[in-house]
Amino acid sequence: MKINFAAPRLPRSGTIVAAVAEGRKLSPSAERLDKASDGAITRAIASSRFTGRSDEFLAVLAPAKLELARILLVGTGKPGSNEAGSPQNRGGQIAAQLNAAGETNAAVTIDLAKPDQQADFAAQLAFGARLRVYRFDKYRTKEKPEQRPTLEELTILVEDAAAAKRAFQPLEKVAEAVFFSRDIISEPANVIYPETLAEAARGLAKLGVEVEVLDEKQMKKLGMNALLGVGQGSTHPPRLLVLQWHGNPKAKNQAPLAFVGKGVTFDTGGISIKPAGGMEDMKWDMAGAGVVIGLLKALAGRKAKVNVVGIAGLVENMPSGSAQRPGDIVTSMSGQTVEVLNTDAEGRLVLADALHYCQTRFKPQLMVDLATLTGAIIVALGSEHAGLFANNDELAERLLQSGKAVGEKLWRMPLAEAYDKLIDSDAADVKNIGGREAGSVTAAQFLQRFVKDVPWAHLDIAGTTWSKKDAPTVPKGATAFGLRLLDRFVAEHYEE
Ligand code: BES
Ligand code: MN
Ligand code: ZN
Repeated sequence: MKINFAAPRLPRSGTIVAAVAEGRKLSPSAERLDKASDGAITRAIASSRFTGRSDEFLAVLAPAKLELARILLVGTGKPGSNEAGSPQNRGGQIAAQLNAAGETNAAVTIDLAKPDQQADFAAQLAFGARLRVYRFDKYRTKEKPEQRPTLEELTILVEDAAAAKRAFQPLEKVAEAVFFSRDIISEPANVIYPETLAEAARGLAKLGVEVEVLDEKQMKKLGMNALLGVGQGSTHPPRLLVLQWHGNPKAKNQAPLAFVGKGVTFDTGGISIKPAGGMEDMKWDMAGAGVVIGLLKALAGRKAKVNVVGIAGLVENMPSGSAQRPGDIVTSMSGQTVEVLNTDAEGRLVLADALHYCQTRFKPQLMVDLATLTGAIIVALGSEHAGLFANNDELAERLLQSGKAVGEKLWRMPLAEAYDKLIDSDAADVKNIGGREAGSVTAAQFLQRFVKDVPWAHLDIAGTTWSKKDAPTVPKGATAFGLRLLDRFVAEHYEE
């Protein structure tokens, strides 16, 4: 789908989209179209249930005197909320409606009281539309044309088209990065495993990202036995991915921001094997890593003036003759010994070494990790919020706010001494499972044992990484949850 910005005009073909507020209140654009079509819009609304609520649409066939095919009315909710409503969601919903209708080209009118806000509104609307039309369809070889999306061209009608285009440029880079993340998260585990995922990340080098890939031998030398233990049952050897974006050379002596991702390319559970039903979902157990890689792609793509490190621990968790056993004790890179009571609690083992490595090598000013860490967070929060754990209130607050702003919502969960006790081991320094209770919290407590004196946050994205239903800007499937949030977080607080 091609996106254009152009000065307001009446298109000669396709669909024109116009807003109607609740109470059937026509926007100025809808009003003009109504006049141009001798009242066709008012008549169509009058004989329908359309009232202008924000989830409503009404398609009206354009009368013969207009050359275009259709007028699509979009409800914008309470009058006056046209400005306040989320332009991204509106864009996403419009794109989905047009595709469902089989339209190939359309123009969207914008009615804003303050013209200086128009360009940004237009860019955000385009961003939402772009994000919604994503599909992972490379393996569908027999799809008929009528099963494919139709929309080829979407034009946003805006007074200052050049300004809108400029505002859209960085957003387009972020969308590209979101698509990249969604792609690698959607790929099956026979295609994406540690080596191929690292290879995919190497592509970021052409954007100026410094890419390093540590192999097994190097990790052994560093003492990353917690991470290596998880991978030892697989024929695909583990990798540690280290990405650096030096976007602010003037501050090269300043501590960087660090993002760390769980990259379990497939999680069978290992010897503590998972039940067969639904196990295929565990191809997206590398989503934390997928989002960290995508985030660096977004920051580099839009040339963000900031210095960022991205680290991902890449392993496949398989049962085999060489796999780790329940009861095994490993010495992590930090020196702490870990009793592995359940080989399915593997994400925290991978992150333990990745977090430790990140701190000792980069001494970051803050560290945020993303992981599809626990089924328990899905029980607690469903798919509406990801779990946020943090040792620092300011960092937590900033992340909560960024999440709200982009519609990737977080809910803060507790960390406390009493939970930490639950992972004391009789045989080693720490064990990798607590009990049945507070499973997401004990997982986070485990991570915290590997965090030194640095502001740190952990996002448990197990419930938000994969969506079972379409949302305005996120079609069902891989969401890349966390990417837009962290892009916003960086832009708002840490960029020059
Ligand atoms: N990757 C899973 C968590 C998960 C489960 C993500 C379902 C998405 C959907 C993680 O490695 C895991 O297996 N966690 C266990 C921990 C338990 C053994 C303490 C879990 O949640 O059951
Ligand atoms: Mn697991
Ligand atoms: Zn896992």
